[in-house]
Amino acid sequence: MVVAIDGPSGSGKSSVSRAVARRLGTAYLDTGAMYRAATWWCLEEGVDLTDQAAVAAAVDVMPLVMGIDPAAPTVHVDGTDVGEAIRTTEISTAVSAVATNLAVRAELRRLQRVIIAAESSAAAADASFSGGRGIVAEGRDITTVVAPDADVRILLTASEEARLARRSLEVHGAADAAAVEATKDQVLRRDRDDSTVSQFHVAADGVVTVDSSDLDFEQTVQAVLDVVEQ
Ligand code: CDP
Repeated sequence: MVVAIDGPSGSGKSSVSRAVARRLGTAYLDTGAMYRAATWWCLEEGVDLTDQAAVAAAVDVMPLVMGIDPAAPTVHVDGTDVGEAIRTTEISTAVSAVATNLAVRAELRRLQRVIIAAESSAAAADASFSGGRGIVAEGRDITTVVAPDADVRILLTASEEARLARRSLEVHGAADAAAVEATKDQVLRRDRDDSTVSQFHVAADGVVTVDSSDLDFEQTVQAVLDVVEQ
């Protein structure tokens, strides 16, 4: 089974998708982490992020290994565990520049499809993490471009207010007015930049919308599981 979940920053996409994968006993793929890792790698290699060809060439040879166990997902680049390094403000600010590079998107989408195919096919069950039970893959373009044929496709949304409060809590450990203000520019600018390459604010045909604005974490996980079980 393939479950595709898209949504904007602060919709709860990553934590909810992980929990859903654990409940279903499937693998879990955080595609945003792949764009973040690509950004980390380019900066590490001293690549000028405005040089599209250089960024594409660097990502082409990036030794990326995604750990897809939902109990402990990992990201390694060239043997280095970058799980924490890819969550810094520096990377969050720079990632859209890399993610809007079409050659980068083509390469990362190719890798994403290879991982999804390995987890969802009985033929490759031996070689896969989940033994062919399936995968929950989340990002911005999974329901529309990476896995439009997924068994379940969900757009996880939330009001701007709810998204900013959650993001602020994640980044600053608080959701008071000052912390929300400090998060706002970054989140809204990234939303705008990301919207130039994928339409993740509107559900495509056949995609079920789950609005998490008024749901807590557990309720959101349950709402997604309800859609899966329908
Ligand atoms: O931090 P947040 O959950 O908002 O984002 P993320 O899922 O970690 O993704 C980081 C960035 O990767 C996004 O802002 C997009 O620029 C890019 N991305 C993308 O372009 N396509 C995807 N399928 C996933 C992420």
